[in-house]
Amino acid sequence: MRPETILTIYEIRAAAAKDLDFLGGPPEPEERFGSDFRGLHFEADFAFLFFVNDYDLGPFLSQYPFVEVKQIHRLRYDQWQDGATMEPMSVGPIKIWPWFEASQTPNLSLGLNNQPDLSSDCPPIYIDPGLAFGFGGHPTTKACLGFLARLYRPGALGVKSPLTALDLGSGTGILALAAARLGANSVLGVDHSHLAVRSAQRNAELNALNSQVKFERGLAQDYAKAPGELVLANMPLFVLKDLLDLRAFDKRSHLIFSGLLASEGDTFLDLLTQSHKALKLVDSQRDDRWVSGLVEF
Ligand SMILES: C[S@@+](CC[C@H](N)C(=O)[O-])C[C@H]1O[C@@H](n2cnc3c(N)ncnc32)[C@H](O)[C@@H]1O
Repeated sequence: MRPETILTIYEIRAAAAKDLDFLGGPPEPEERFGSDFRGLHFEADFAFLFFVNDYDLGPFLSQYPFVEVKQIHRLRYDQWQDGATMEPMSVGPIKIWPWFEASQTPNLSLGLNNQPDLSSDCPPIYIDPGLAFGFGGHPTTKACLGFLARLYRPGALGVKSPLTALDLGSGTGILALAAARLGANSVLGVDHSHLAVRSAQRNAELNALNSQVKFERGLAQDYAKAPGELVLANMPLFVLKDLLDLRAFDKRSHLIFSGLLASEGDTFLDLLTQSHKALKLVDSQRDDRWVSGLVEF
């Protein structure tokens, strides 16, 4: 989506989450709402419907008197992205490039402005964030990318780099795709948001990584035992705690975590150390807001 694109976001509510199930179809929302529809996100008894342009959902919703329109937000796409400019960026060998023309067939041998990319052997990762979290500029994502670069630097940690990875809370898929670009040959990303999973699947296709990297919609907690030597988890503390309780980090080689507020970092590391006595905190990063880390088990 281009920065100047106008988004209309309907925030609607029903008495119970299941009363909103009708929005997911059938028919599929894309079919029902047409080409201006961009996504649907559920959060408890709220649903958020995203459209481009000045979409009027009123006639459709009038058939469902039990839902209440709480708010209609109209804003530019770059405001939705919090003013983040989608400039090409790099973290070590990882290059993240914006993919504004998502409908075009990518040609991975060409870079921005169709210039051949000869600068490194790690091809850029094209990300169309759509409405999901994770273009790369956020400090938590950046920290995780830095740890990934470190983990996959040949021989850097004196251990074999993980060949399989599980990305919990995958957002746009940026971390899963970066792990695959750096050397993982099988990665599963999981996110509870429809919007995120669709965006991540599109990004996997844009980068021709869709045979190596799969995305599924679901709760991270339900994937606690899914395969992956490396776990990536840029998630809030309560989810990380749930994952610990579910023994999600047993039999893993590494964990990259982020998304913890400065005040929460020590709490999580204490709990992690209590349940995994032999762990090594290989690296950590703290700024005035976020704590992130790379752990070896
Ligand atoms: C901070 S974003 C991280 C996105 C991406 N991994 C990155 O590093 O940029 C957290 C993501 O976790 C998802 N999420 C939060 N709680 C979740 C849960 N319990 N199960 C699955 N996904 C969850 C959100 O939808 C969001 O996409």
